[in-house]
Amino acid sequence: MGFLLSNYQLTICILLYSLIFCFSSSSAHLCHNDESTALLQFKQLFSFNCAACDCSVYSAPLPDNWKEGTDCCAWDGVTCDNTTSHVIGLDLRCNCLYGTIHPNSSLFNLVHLQHLDLSHNNFNHSQILPSFGRFTNLTHLDLISSHLSGPIQSSEEEVWQGNNFSNSIFHLQKLQELRLGGNRELTGKLPSFINGTLWHLRHLRSLDLSFIDFTGELPNSIGQLEYLEVLDLGYCNVSGTIPRSFTNLTRLYWLYLGGNNWNNGQFPSSIGHLKNLEQLYLSHCNFYGTIPRSLTNLMLLIWLDLSYNNFEGPIPQLFSNFSLIQYIDFSNNQLTGPIPSSITGLTSLQSLYLGSNSINGIPPSLFHLVSLTELDLSSNNLSDTVELDTFAKLEDLISLDLSKSGLSLTTTNSTPFSFRKIWTLQLSSCNISKIPEFLKTQMEHLETLDLSNNYLNEELNPLCNLYSLSYLDLSNNQLAGLIPTCLGNFNGNLILLNLQKNNFHGSIPQTFGFASMLQLLDISHNGLQGMLPRSLANCTNLEILNLGHNFIEDAFPFWLENLPQLKIIVLRDNKFHGTIEQPRKRLAFTNLHIIDMSHNEFTGTLPSEYFESMHSMMMDDEDKSSLKYMGIGSGYYSVTIMNKGLEMTLVRIITIFKAIDFSHNKFDGKIPISIGRLKALRVLNFSRNGFTGPIPLSLVNLTELESLDLSQNKLSGEIPQQLTSLTFLEVFDVSQNNLTGIIPRGQQFETFSNTSYEGNLGLCGFPLSKNCGNVQIAESPTLPSSFSHNFKFKFDGFGWEAVLMGYGCGVLLGLLIGSYIIQRKEEWLVRIFGVKMRQHGKRSKKIWKKIAHTKSIINCL
Ligand SMILES: *[C@@H]1O[C@H](CO)[C@@H](O)[C@H](O)[C@H]1NC(C)=O
Ligand SMILES: *[C@@H]1O[C@H](CO)[C@@H](O)[C@H](O)[C@H]1NC(C)=O
Ligand SMILES: *[C@@H]1O[C@H](CO)[C@@H](O)[C@H](O)[C@H]1NC(C)=O
Ligand SMILES: *[C@@H]1O[C@H](CO)[C@@H](O)[C@H](O)[C@H]1NC(C)=O
Ligand SMILES: *[C@@H]1O[C@H](CO)[C@@H](O)[C@H](O)[C@H]1NC(C)=O
Ligand SMILES: *[C@@H]1O[C@H](CO)[C@@H](O)[C@H](O)[C@H]1NC(C)=O
Ligand SMILES: *[C@@H]1O[C@H](CO)[C@@H](O)[C@H](O)[C@H]1NC(C)=O
Ligand SMILES: *[C@@H]1O[C@H](CO)[C@@H](O)[C@H](O)[C@H]1NC(C)=O
Ligand SMILES: *[C@@H]1O[C@H](CO)[C@@H](O)[C@H](O)[C@H]1NC(C)=O
Ligand SMILES: *[C@@H]1O[C@H](CO)[C@@H](O)[C@H](O)[C@H]1NC(C)=O
Ligand SMILES: *[C@@H]1O[C@H](CO)[C@@H](O)[C@H](O)[C@H]1NC(C)=O
Repeated sequence: MGFLLSNYQLTICILLYSLIFCFSSSSAHLCHNDESTALLQFKQLFSFNCAACDCSVYSAPLPDNWKEGTDCCAWDGVTCDNTTSHVIGLDLRCNCLYGTIHPNSSLFNLVHLQHLDLSHNNFNHSQILPSFGRFTNLTHLDLISSHLSGPIQSSEEEVWQGNNFSNSIFHLQKLQELRLGGNRELTGKLPSFINGTLWHLRHLRSLDLSFIDFTGELPNSIGQLEYLEVLDLGYCNVSGTIPRSFTNLTRLYWLYLGGNNWNNGQFPSSIGHLKNLEQLYLSHCNFYGTIPRSLTNLMLLIWLDLSYNNFEGPIPQLFSNFSLIQYIDFSNNQLTGPIPSSITGLTSLQSLYLGSNSINGIPPSLFHLVSLTELDLSSNNLSDTVELDTFAKLEDLISLDLSKSGLSLTTTNSTPFSFRKIWTLQLSSCNISKIPEFLKTQMEHLETLDLSNNYLNEELNPLCNLYSLSYLDLSNNQLAGLIPTCLGNFNGNLILLNLQKNNFHGSIPQTFGFASMLQLLDISHNGLQGMLPRSLANCTNLEILNLGHNFIEDAFPFWLENLPQLKIIVLRDNKFHGTIEQPRKRLAFTNLHIIDMSHNEFTGTLPSEYFESMHSMMMDDEDKSSLKYMGIGSGYYSVTIMNKGLEMTLVRIITIFKAIDFSHNKFDGKIPISIGRLKALRVLNFSRNGFTGPIPLSLVNLTELESLDLSQNKLSGEIPQQLTSLTFLEVFDVSQNNLTGIIPRGQQFETFSNTSYEGNLGLCGFPLSKNCGNVQIAESPTLPSSFSHNFKFKFDGFGWEAVLMGYGCGVLLGLLIGSYIIQRKEEWLVRIFGVKMRQHGKRSKKIWKKIAHTKSIINCL
């Protein structure tokens, strides 16, 4: 992976540097003793822990020349005043500082500070202390992404109710720049800026409050910060309308309001008055209607992002005004009609994102935009047949996405030397029937290639020249022959390999162990035979392994138990056999979230030890918090830094689904009691085996369980009454066993039908017609709990909710095989692959529609 520095980034860098720090740290003067001591004391209280800090983007020197007895004005990151020698600047951004800032910290003795940058460290949930109010001459304060928490003031009540501001950062009269963004644990209301003494902030030129969890609306008084040039309120949970007073912020040239819950939905006309705007980010804002004409006033625009709204109607002919514009993102709206031919006027345009709309035509003039480097027309209604090489006229393209655009691409006349600069080529569902010639040559930049869902039926060996590939998706074609051994390594770059649903046969190449970067391997739904290559044990980064629906004949791959990242294993529908032995190591499969061994020939009793080391299935909380954090580091950076060439980056696995499916095997013996320790389990399927003995009472501890299938075994005894406490259980099946006694009543058990119980001659009571005679029936039934449980994860602004609802509503009765997230520009694309779903119940359609609304890419098994 690498970063390309675009003009945009340069702009940002220059901006940051000019606003944060313009000082030279050299000085002829000796620093004051007390300040020197204060600095050393301050630093001593931290440990250096770079892993704890979000610093991937910067590489700053550690302050390793901070030595007692030397002139502190010469220390790295320290700036002194030329005449008074007082420390006036401290830049410890990204210094891997880890620890707490106490109220008595010696930092606050540096009262002459004018510039203070402590961003990208980890202050371990410290609060923003009133002591910051002591820096009365502070002009620049940067605490971005430094793990601060708590109310944005130490005493929220005091400050927000306007009683005592004298100790707050909002009292710092000289402040020109205030950057607190990326501290997700900061909370509070947005300050009303002007009322009370907060009017001091009126000199602010730059304000970043992004990713702070505010409550309430954006106060109208923000319009009085008339010197504001840069305003970032992205993803900070402000609601209400965008105040009309924005009209007055005429100096703004950088405005980010995306990712908030603006409830009005009308595009704020005030923005059309901000004639100095160069960069405008309004994605995820709930706006609807047509793209407003008032944008035409913004003739200095370089960057315009209106993605993820509900804009409809045609793309307006407003292009002729935008001679400077370099970046347009209108993706994920409901725009219709063709791309206007006036687009040819956008002579500076480099990036054009129009994906996920209903656009139905491209003008020939599009191919005159020779500056284009990124073009996304995916998921539209274009219906033409186009020679792929036509796009090669755009010689500077580094990223092209035509997946599901509606275009049928012919490649028969493709030439070997097209697309020489391309990094990312996505041509899924483009009716391609022949691998284009240029892909058979060495393409030194090509990292991501998606040719899935086409009609390719060749052998793959010619692709072995693409040695830079990291992401290769060829799923759902008719590719045949053996899997080429080159796919096992590719210089060790390969991170994702998806060959699902093809006609490959033969055995899996022994080379996969060399691809130590491999995180996802999906070769399911082919005709693969033989044993698993033991070299897979060398893929220490492997997170997802899907081998389902082949003819693999092997014993249980216990030798994968050490892979530390392995989260999902699917062995479904193969010829795996033999018993599951006790784990060799005490810690086996500790990170596993999903295991599907169904439809194989496994035998014997289940060793309870396996469940005992599946730590991640035991923990639910861990996930919620890590998911909550997911967006921050990368999400935040991606706004300012991640850009060209990094549109499709696999980041990590989404960790919500925890499931076990051992169905359709020949297991016998008792169900191990230890299953009750997997508290985070949501789906458990032991059906169609030969399990005997009782339903273990320990199942009552699986409080998250939504689906429990124990049908077609030889279980005996009663159904434990305590199972009624599983209030999220939506699917329950114990049919075809040898169970006896009264069916429990209450909660979810009121919702299960006959079919859940049939084939158990000894069961009686509701819903069966057989009543239990004189036996006392359990207490009066209560209503089933609502499904609000399913909404408890909420990832503001990233559109994951819908996916979770789809999952949580219990529609996916089968096993959810996995999901991974692809980071693309600043938004997250949730991509579910291999979801096994029985169309069951009336909810399913609606839910799939909801998922589709988040523009996920979904394939079903
Ligand atoms: C302080 O000295 C440095 C180097 O001699 C110089 O670049 C800088 O402009 C001076 N700053 C002030 C405020 O005089
Ligand atoms: C961070 O905070 C936690 C709990 O507040 C504490 O246990 C831990 O020691 C702190 N770590 C450091 C390095 O201060
Ligand atoms: C500063 O406060 C912390 C915690 O409140 C305390 O542990 C420490 O001893 C104090 N240090 C000084 C120098 O007072
Ligand atoms: C703050 O700046 C003013 C004017 O430059 C100066 O007189 C005063 O001494 C400074 N205060 C501190 C604490 O540095
Ligand atoms: C406000 O804060 C100042 C400084 O800490 C303090 O002296 C004063 O008593 C406070 N006033 C009130 C009303 O709390
Ligand atoms: C300003 O504060 C006063 C009370 O201190 C309150 O009555 C008034 O409504 C506030 N104005 C705004 C615009 O918030
Ligand atoms: C977001 O804002 C809403 C309404 O102001 C509030 O109810 C909610 O608690 C906030 N969410 C978070 C996570 O702070
Ligand atoms: C803009 O500022 C002017 C002058 O301060 C003020 O009169 C006007 O009400 C402001 N407009 C809005 C919409 O707040
Ligand atoms: C794993 O990698 C090591 C060194 O890279 C190699 O020697 C070994 O043969 C590999 N193991 C397997 C099973 O391929
Ligand atoms: C449920 O879990 C608790 C705490 O881990 C344990 O004490 C209890 O025995 C478990 N209940 C059953 C029925 O296994
Ligand atoms: C069913 O369970 C009873 C005891 O509860 C046992 O006698 C009988 O053999 C079992 N039947 C089968 C088919 O397993």
